[in-house]
Amino acid sequence: MLPSCKIRTADASVRGVRTSISRPSLLTPIPEWCFLFYYEMLKYFRGPWEIVGTVVVAVLFYALLFLLPFLDRWPERRPFSRAIVIGAGGLLLTVVFTFLFISLRTVVKMPVTDPSVVRGKQLYQTLGCAACHRIHGEGEMIGPELSYVGAQRDADWLIRRLKDPESVALGSIMPAFAGLSEAELTDLTNYEMNLK
Ligand code: HEC
Repeated sequence: MLPSCKIRTADASVRGVRTSISRPSLLTPIPEWCFLFYYEMLKYFRGPWEIVGTVVVAVLFYALLFLLPFLDRWPERRPFSRAIVIGAGGLLLTVVFTFLFISLRTVVKMPVTDPSVVRGKQLYQTLGCAACHRIHGEGEMIGPELSYVGAQRDADWLIRRLKDPESVALGSIMPAFAGLSEAELTDLTNYEMNLK
C-alpha cells in the first residue's frame, strides 16, 4: 500500500518541499508564519476546550475590535493617559509574539528535507544506481544523466521505469528493480523527482 496522500506537499506552505513530491510520505504541514502563533495557542485547548480556541477566542477578538470605537470614546489621544487600552494592546502583542516564538523554536528543529527523499537517496546508493548513472558529476555514464530527471519525467513513469524498464524503453539494458516494495519505489521516486 502506498501511504495515503492527505497532505498536498506541492503546497508552498509546507516546509521542506523544494519541488513537487507527487507521492508524499509523512510531512508535517506548517501554516504560514503569520498564523503560527494561533496554531500554537490552539495546542492549549484540548478536547472539549477546542471550541474555545477555534471559535470563542476569535469571535471575542473580532467583536472587541469592532466595538472598540464605541467602547473607548475618551477624546484624549496621548498614549500615556490611555493606560488601559495601551496596556491591553501591549499584552495582546506580548502573547502573540510569545506564541510565535515558541512555535518557531519547534519549526526550526523540523527536518528540512522530506524523510522519504532522504531514504530514497540511501536506496539510490545501496542499489548501485551510480554504477550506470551520473548525478551532478558523481557516478558513471552508462545510462543517461539523472541530475534533472525530476523536471523531465513524472513519478509514475519513473516507477514503471524501475519496475519494468522495457515497458517504457524498448530494448532497455537497465536491470529491472521489480523486487522493491511500494514504499521503496515511492522513496526512490521522491528522491529522483527532487533532483535539480
Ligand atoms: C547496469 C546499468 C544501470 C543500472 C544499475 C541502473 N540503470 Fe537506470 N538506466 C540504464 C540505462 C542504460 C538507461 C537508458 C537506456 C536503457 O534503458 O537501456 C537507464 C535509464 C534510466 C532512467 C531514465 C532516464 C530518462 O530520463 O530517460 C532512469 C530514471 C533510471 N535509469 C533510473 C535508475 C535508478 C533509480 C537506478 C537504481 C535503482 C538505475 N537506473 C540503475 C542503466 C542502468
